[in-house]
Amino acid sequence: MKRKRILSGMQPSGPLHLGNYHGALKNWLALQEDYECFYFIADWHSLTTLYENPQLVRKYSFEVAVDWLASGLDPEKCTLFVQSRIPEHAELHLILSMIVPVPWLERNPTYKEKQTEVKGVDMSSYGFLGYPVLQTADIVLYKADLVPVGIDQAPHLEISREIIRRFHSFYKKVFIEPEAKISDIPKLNGLDGRKMSKSYSNAIYLSDTEKDIAQKIQSMFTDPARLRRTDPGDPDVCNLFPFHKIYSSRETQEEIIPACRTAQIGCGDCKKKLTQSMLAGMAPILERRQEFVAKPREVEEILAAGTKKAQAIARATLQQTKDAMKL
Ligand code: TRP
Ligand code: SF4
Repeated sequence: MKRKRILSGMQPSGPLHLGNYHGALKNWLALQEDYECFYFIADWHSLTTLYENPQLVRKYSFEVAVDWLASGLDPEKCTLFVQSRIPEHAELHLILSMIVPVPWLERNPTYKEKQTEVKGVDMSSYGFLGYPVLQTADIVLYKADLVPVGIDQAPHLEISREIIRRFHSFYKKVFIEPEAKISDIPKLNGLDGRKMSKSYSNAIYLSDTEKDIAQKIQSMFTDPARLRRTDPGDPDVCNLFPFHKIYSSRETQEEIIPACRTAQIGCGDCKKKLTQSMLAGMAPILERRQEFVAKPREVEEILAAGTKKAQAIARATLQQTKDAMKL
């Protein structure tokens, strides 16, 4: 039986952090075992925010590729490629843009949010408004059945499905209406308790050194009601405890919970324990990362091979699109 096809992308808007890893990448790793997966670096999409510093796109694209490989995405199992190396994405984006009513894009909740959220960047561009159109081109070029995304991307998938239906109402059927595969992993907060994000400077990166990570854990916010060492704490409201749930053993967690509630353990000790378990948990990724950073040629070859394979599919779909439109 043919495996279902999965496609997903990540913007190279910076090196990947633990929020990206636990929120998306770990899911991608699991999926590569059971599906035919295509994962790509959405570098054109990242220009919607990085257009004033485009030189960063190349740098971050390499970082993201290394983060992927270090995390265990396996080029033997999945196809890894770079969006901007396949001009078919841009060409199909242009064709689709002719049939997309602008109000559909203006209604997009992400569009409205980001307008106000991204500080210091003017987000009133034509390209940003059309973000979901480019994303639709990304998906349909590969006839993906499923698109794993976070819940915040669900509206984009809905717009894609509407665009596809509209295309098929005018022309012969070529595309597949993809389904969103929403990962319901709760958001991992950053060092300060806000959502982990590069723009808040509160993230732990896969590219951090052991020393960086230890220092960052030291600076983490804990239970805000625990002002003194003698105050009891509450792991349920503590910003640090969710990291124990990911990285520490059951026994360690079960030790900490009552000891925190009775002030037998201080946050300093608790942070030391977390440092130990987190460094142990991240060690394989940090090690593999070092190896790939030292072999940029190999990383490049992996992307080149993936891009070649992806482009053959994209080219065929674009031709079918033009045939359907009798262009
Ligand atoms: N918008 C996605 C994000 O920021 C990235 C993306 C671009 C994408 N094109 C895609 C995801 C196609 C899935 C499918 O996370
Ligand atoms: Fe959080 Fe640990 Fe401090 Fe309790 S002891 S408040 S769990 S950091």
